[in-house]
Amino acid sequence: MGSRKSVPDLEPQKAERKGVIMAQKYLITCALPYANGPVHMGHIAGVYLPGDIFTRFLRLKGEECIFICGTDDHGVPITISADQEKSTPAAIVKKYHGMQEAAFKGLGIEFDMFSGTSTCKHHRELSQEFFLSLQKTGHIEPRITAQYYCTSCERFLPDRYVEGQCPFCGAEDARGDQCEACGNALDSLKDPKCKICGKRPEKRKTKHWFLRLDKYQDLILDWLNSKTNWKDNVRKFATEMLKKGLRARSITRDIDWGIPVPVEGAEGKVLYVWFDAPIGYISFTKELGDRRNDPDLWQMYWKGTGTKLVHFIGKDNIVFHAVIWPSMLMGQEGYILPDEIPAFEFLNFKGDKFSKSKKHALWAHDYLSLLPADLARYYLTVVAPETHDTNWTWETFVIRVNSELADVLGNFVNRTVTFARKNFGGAAPEADGRTLKPVLEKIRAAKEAMDSELSAFHFKAALAPLIELAREGNRIFDFEKPWETINASPASSGATVAACLEISAAIGTMIFPFMPESAGKIRRWLGLSEKPAPEDWKAVGSQMLKHGTKLAEPEILFAKVELAAIEAWEEKQKPQETPPPAEKGPLKVTFDAFRQIDLRIAQIMKVEEIKGADKLYRIEIDAGDGPRTIVAGLRLHYPDPASLVGRRIVVVANLEPAKIRGITSTAMLLAAEHGGKVRLLMPDGDLPPGSKVS
Ligand code: 2FM
Ligand code: ZN
Repeated sequence: MGSRKSVPDLEPQKAERKGVIMAQKYLITCALPYANGPVHMGHIAGVYLPGDIFTRFLRLKGEECIFICGTDDHGVPITISADQEKSTPAAIVKKYHGMQEAAFKGLGIEFDMFSGTSTCKHHRELSQEFFLSLQKTGHIEPRITAQYYCTSCERFLPDRYVEGQCPFCGAEDARGDQCEACGNALDSLKDPKCKICGKRPEKRKTKHWFLRLDKYQDLILDWLNSKTNWKDNVRKFATEMLKKGLRARSITRDIDWGIPVPVEGAEGKVLYVWFDAPIGYISFTKELGDRRNDPDLWQMYWKGTGTKLVHFIGKDNIVFHAVIWPSMLMGQEGYILPDEIPAFEFLNFKGDKFSKSKKHALWAHDYLSLLPADLARYYLTVVAPETHDTNWTWETFVIRVNSELADVLGNFVNRTVTFARKNFGGAAPEADGRTLKPVLEKIRAAKEAMDSELSAFHFKAALAPLIELAREGNRIFDFEKPWETINASPASSGATVAACLEISAAIGTMIFPFMPESAGKIRRWLGLSEKPAPEDWKAVGSQMLKHGTKLAEPEILFAKVELAAIEAWEEKQKPQETPPPAEKGPLKVTFDAFRQIDLRIAQIMKVEEIKGADKLYRIEIDAGDGPRTIVAGLRLHYPDPASLVGRRIVVVANLEPAKIRGITSTAMLLAAEHGGKVRLLMPDGDLPPGSKVS
């Protein structure tokens, strides 16, 4: 194990870090979602909503911050999705990047920059720079390693291409690189299976580049020990990894989608997605600087001592952010390290994990087609998985929305503004000190509680005093009965209403981080700017509204929701399931269905071997409609490629194109097999290419 002294090249930048003191500012990031699917409410609850609330809160208090995110576009998660959707990685990334960006926007999650690791123009260069500087200082080195290789698919199987049992916790569905159940990073699996064909892969030797994490053991340990205020889950995951001893980790992969490894001898290999992804936080900050015409912005944030770097992540990303990423940063010149890593646990959906493959999810875009963003923002805060896994159920959603937002908060603001408009000429009545004083005290207490809880990343606890304030407002309104005193004592009725309007103004300002749209509505009705500024935050706790302020006509702030309507909507969303075959036995194809298969005669024009695939040929054919390419497993059965050229064969010409070894195959040839021997089907006679087979 390395000691602090064995990595002297890490010392100068520590000194530099101590040197420059800059104004305090926050760099807030959210884990980059893989661009291989839409975002669901589990993602929103655990990462993006808390990140957005925290950033809005800091801005409200006048703190300088930037909020960075974007899609994680590389790696096996994307190539597997591309294979599954019969598409290309670039097309998959484009599709889901757009969907994710729209969903975040719809939910009011406002990043300063939402870029992508395959599209950001700084990302490739910066990732390669990180690699080269770590290599130069001896923190990256090549090694010959044993990797899973599927002899049937004729390829190496990095990461998610292999599945099996986790050697640490025994979970059945662990992936080659990580077990989601226990969070451990993995090199080997028990009972491994190829994700593509299901066969058991073997281990084969190949060269990969390793990050010498072992050299960072002591530095990371010291650094983590200083983070006594971090959440238990983060400290636990990170220290457990350190207890086992950090080991060198392979940071290159044998796939053709990603950032090329920038060294000789690494042709065809790319950087491991977890190496390049967090660097995205920096490249996207550079892109933000471009957009703002401020080329130094990224250095100000990433290399200035005044920055607090806060990474919002889910618990499955802890070791990468609390151990591996800081090691990568320590190995560079002058970068800051994460200051806070408020990792959340998981939100489940109706008692089970969100799962794309099992179609068990509430997608953000689907939710937004049904209900307003703020209801989800509220519910996800009150059921936030801050310290343990929690659960979304529509039953509790309906209860919390109706009994807290509609009956308490909405009802209080609506009745106050409506009564004031009707009885005091559409304007705020005059307050009196005696009524106002205790109300302002309550507001200050709520503000203080919210401030200290949110500063400690306790989102639920920060929101509770605001609902309590609305409850208090309702109590005052009910107790003072301004509708009864309005005739006999309009001043006293007015004083009650003025105090309730003050509570509304304070709530309208303080709920801005949690429910920005509703905050904007309340503030507009009270004649305030929709978006609160730091002066407004400062003003909370003193009198915010002047006597005579014009009040706008309110609408219902939170309409009640109905469980039956939601369930009916959900039923409609369900994909129509194909009915099971009526009887058991081999699948029967109707004559009409068979006739839809475009079987034709084709002529083989050219046959080539495919490098690294000892069973496959790349075959060019003429099927009567121009040249087509087929990838076929004929090499072992017809070892001489020249013997195939000129032959007439039978092909299926209307199959969906499929990508095999990076080559798009646009037809399928027919062959027969017996006892392991494979022979092509060939027409009897000289039929021209394109002839229909029926
Ligand atoms: O787990 C994930 O979804 C990863 N795409 C998170 C990456 S976070 C960061 F490092 F970019
Ligand atoms: Zn396979």
